[in-house]
Amino acid sequence: MNDITILAIETSCDETAAAVVVNGRKVLSNVISSQIDTHKKFGGVVPEVASRKHIEKIDHVIDEALEKAACTFSDIDAIAVTYGPGLVGALLVGLAQAKALAFALDKPLIGVHHIEGHIAANYIENVEFEPPFLCLVVSGGHTHLVHVKDYDEFTIIGKTRDDAIGEAFDKVARSIGLGYPGGPKIDRLAPEGDEKYIEFPKAKIEGYDFSFSGVKSAVLNYMNQCKMKGEEIIPKHIAASFQYAVVEAVVEKTFLAADALKIDKVAIAGGVAANSKLRTRMQEECDQRKIQLQYPSPILCTDNAAMIGAAAYYEFIHGRYDGMDLNAIPNLKLSNKKSD
Ligand code: KG4
Ligand code: ZN
Repeated sequence: MNDITILAIETSCDETAAAVVVNGRKVLSNVISSQIDTHKKFGGVVPEVASRKHIEKIDHVIDEALEKAACTFSDIDAIAVTYGPGLVGALLVGLAQAKALAFALDKPLIGVHHIEGHIAANYIENVEFEPPFLCLVVSGGHTHLVHVKDYDEFTIIGKTRDDAIGEAFDKVARSIGLGYPGGPKIDRLAPEGDEKYIEFPKAKIEGYDFSFSGVKSAVLNYMNQCKMKGEEIIPKHIAASFQYAVVEAVVEKTFLAADALKIDKVAIAGGVAANSKLRTRMQEECDQRKIQLQYPSPILCTDNAAMIGAAAYYEFIHGRYDGMDLNAIPNLKLSNKKSD
């Protein structure tokens, strides 16, 4: 079979990204224009501002992705784009661009689920890695435990009942004065603190679901109590103790499921998969059980378009293309394509 070269576009949140990916595994370019500096001023992503920034950047980002890949549009076999879940205005910018290109170039258009993209990031750096495996998807918007039975067959076996884990990282970081985005900042500060300094509660939920709103409130309550009692608030200890509580919670559920399903491969995906503590703890638990662990480099954990190009390849080879009526779906569910 000839090589399949896909131009992928991702604009679901605050990164304007484009990439060129060959056969779902080889990344020729991966350009990411981050809006973090803009949103920092507001303490979080402002949807309207995100859409405007995507419009300003998208053309340049695509040109740069082609240039870095030493490609022209004629080398491209299909255009892939994230169509959900995400911010509707932000998604629409990428989608309009992808449709225009697919129409003008007469190439197939492939809509990709953002979470499927995060999962597929695991295929990029290890060409041998393939389903079935259990994937812990931890991002700013999602916390899912997914049994990836095949490239296009997903069963969600657990998910958060309230906040996403990344959201909890960002909110706690903000409350201790670290700013946005908080995840990487807590990751850096936590090793200086004592993770046993404060015992934050772990949600007691049956089965494989998660909950993070309790621990987030516990951090805020702890800080209020310190203020009332005139006790010193020590951010490094809060960062370490909070990170310990949430990392242990997701690790516990992941291996509860891995043991029950007799899984021999585990992967992590999404922005929080870049967290050093999570990576270390997952590795320890996998080593104990002789389970293979896979995780992407940090740049492929947070939002990027290479992961969208990787996921799109498996749609392409099954001839699953989309029409010009493809729309942005902000709350798109992860679906099992095999049974569609
Ligand atoms: O996957 P992502 O880039 O966007 C979404 O799809 O949501 O994830 C962003 C989230 C943010 O909440 C950010 O704080 C978190 O990932 N994050 C981290 C780290 N790097 C990014 N959280 C903990 N430790 C990190 N090193
Ligand atoms: Zn994401």
